Amino acid sequence: MFLLKNIKYRDILDIKQLHIPSDKITCIVGESGSGKTTLLRLLNKMISCTEGEIYYNHNPISQIDSIDLRRDVVMLPQAPAIFPGTIEDNLLVGLRFSEKPLVNQDKLAEILKMVHLNKSPKENASQLSGGEKQRLALGRVILMAPAVFLLDEPSSALDESTEKIIIEQLVDYVKQNHKTLIMVTHSKKIAQTYADYIVEIKNGNLIDKRRE
Ligand SMILES: Nc1ncnc2c1ncn2[C@@H]1O[C@H](COP(=O)(O)OP(=O)(O)OP(=O)(O)O)[C@@H](O)[C@H]1O
Ligand SMILES: [Mg+2]
Repeated sequence: MFLLKNIKYRDILDIKQLHIPSDKITCIVGESGSGKTTLLRLLNKMISCTEGEIYYNHNPISQIDSIDLRRDVVMLPQAPAIFPGTIEDNLLVGLRFSEKPLVNQDKLAEILKMVHLNKSPKENASQLSGGEKQRLALGRVILMAPAVFLLDEPSSALDESTEKIIIEQLVDYVKQNHKTLIMVTHSKKIAQTYADYIVEIKNGNLIDKRRE
């Protein structure tokens, strides 16, 4: 799905070669400041590498239109934005931005259940807790149903039992729908339990990649 060849991003990342397979769950781990978010941002062309090339389905991403790429490859940032308005507005905003068809109330209810958010779509989103906002933002990207999910610590604000429920739902969804999930996590336990592959970054270098 992604192949990175001799990638450098300023003096932050330096990766000789990395293959990230499709239809699998890849977890990116490493200490704070090691370059995990930078790697995700390279994969959806929020930033471009200063040296080397990244291939998406064998095509150099330098030659893929950013908007086209981001229709396929959707990133959930580490601190996602919550917009003024209702939960429904916030769920639909990703579809609106990417000009995808909107969905009905049943689908919204299904997504809220999936991210374990027991709230009405008509409620104001600004009143949600930090962890609830994080789950709302995750619901937003699941609704977009991209081929590739780039999730930057999607469960960092959740307690361990909620985290387990959410990640299990996400993993089931990804497997059943043949999606590719690339997820940064601070939790070694999450990576070891759910990842098909673990990519470990230290000081901008790949130090390990192994099959679990
Ligand atoms: N645009 C930028 N300009 C300069 N330095 C940057 C830029 N973006 C990131 N950095 C630096 O690059 C390093 C890696 O940042 P990155 O956000 O990728 O780390 P991370 O592994 O995601 O960390 P965390 O676990 O804390 O989120 C950090 O030292 C950061 O300060
Ligand atoms: Mg980060």
